[in-house]
Formats: sequence, structure tokens, C-alpha cells
Amino acid sequence: MTELLYENGEHRYFLLGFGESSREEGIPSNQYLVTRDGHAVLFDPGGSGLFPILSARLSEWSDLASVRAIFLSHQDPDVSAGLDIWMQITGARVYLSRLWTRFMPHMDLTHPDRLLPVPDDGATVEVAPGFLFDILPAHFLHSPGQINVLDPVSRILFTGDIGAAERSNGTIFVDDFAEHLPHIEGFHRRYMASRKALRKWIREVERRDVDTIAPQHGPLYRGPAKDALLRWLFDLRCGVDLYE
Ligand SMILES: [Fe+2]
Ligand SMILES: [Fe+2]
Repeated sequence: MTELLYENGEHRYFLLGFGESSREEGIPSNQYLVTRDGHAVLFDPGGSGLFPILSARLSEWSDLASVRAIFLSHQDPDVSAGLDIWMQITGARVYLSRLWTRFMPHMDLTHPDRLLPVPDDGATVEVAPGFLFDILPAHFLHSPGQINVLDPVSRILFTGDIGAAERSNGTIFVDDFAEHLPHIEGFHRRYMASRKALRKWIREVERRDVDTIAPQHGPLYRGPAKDALLRWLFDLRCGVDLYE
């Protein structure tokens, strides 16, 4: 399935994959596509097994040669294992934390010169004229070099593994945060580094106008569910906090 999350004229934001591919093993993951004026951008395209289904879906709305940029939230295999095929076929530039640009070439990338390091404080990236993204630092959540990407037009914030659910009831948006909590609690307690890192990230989010939080796994958060997620994360003891 492809879900159109936002549309305003030529600007569209799609949930391109929602963990439902039979080719995907392990934890179900989400992939996102943003298109504008004939240009396209992908977030966390995942492993090579997803390439056939995702490229077919993308072709319904755009074409592979129009993919200008791929943003990687961090270095994990569920984020980046299929990167080489996407880079070869699309010609896209790839943005990821400066911590990981030295490691990615170990995947035998054909075009390592197209990996672009994002500084620790984040950046604004213009992938095509007037097609802008705001990259937020989200370090140690869970990766030590983790980025989030805000589309300022749709106000959808792609958060990588923050807010990620290991399981879900299959709905695209969280309806009832209390009911959803058991699907995210164990993952965040173990994988997120500390409450200090979470609070630093929450300050970054609150400085922006964010309508929807879109994680790499499980349903999205908007309205009361988004506020409830931020409140819960603000007080969460996790990672090294639990060693005290
Ligand atoms: Fe991860
Ligand atoms: Fe992940």
C-alpha cells in the first residue's frame, strides 16, 4: 500500500511502505517519499529486498531518475542495507550523520562520493530549488549519530527509531496512546541512550512547528498521540539511566 499523508499542489508526502512487504524479514519498517515539482526524496529506504516493491510504488507518482536525495536516519541495516542499488539507479545524494560517512563505504558502495555528512548540529538542505528540509540532531536516540528530517511544508517530522513500535495493530496513526504504549516501551527503554538525550531532542522538536511524528517502524503520531509521546519520552528512564 501507498498512503498519501499530505498534499498541497505539487507537494506530496507519502508513506511508501508500512511494514507489510512479504519480502521483508525481521522488524517491519516504514519508508517515506516526498515529491515536489518533479523532484523526489526518500527516507530510510531499507534493505535491497524492498527495492522491487518500493521502486514500483514510487514509479506511480514519480520516476527513479527524479530522486534527488536519500536521507538516512542512522547506520542500521534496516535503514541502509539496500543503499547501493538505490544510489546506482537514482543518482541520488545521500545525507547522513558525519559519524557514518566513513563506515558506509564498507558496504562496497559504487558511488561513495555521493555520501554527504550532516554536521552534529543539523543543517538545512535544499535538494532542488525551493525543495527544503530541516535536519534536526537526534543523537544517541538510538544511534550516536542520528538525524531527524522535518518537511516544513507538510510539517511531518521523520524521526527514525524514535517513536518506533515493535508491533502494532496495523493502523497508520496511533489512536490511543495508552493502548499503544506496550508496543514501544521495551524498545525505547533498551535502545535509547538516556533521558538527557531524549530531553535535548524534545527541545529541538518544540522549537519547530511539527504536526506529525513519523517513525521508521509502526504507526505515526499526530494530535493528542503526538503530545502524549513527547510527554512520555520526557520522563522516560532508559539506556544508561537504568545502570544507575
Ligand atoms: Fe536502528
Ligand atoms: Fe530501525
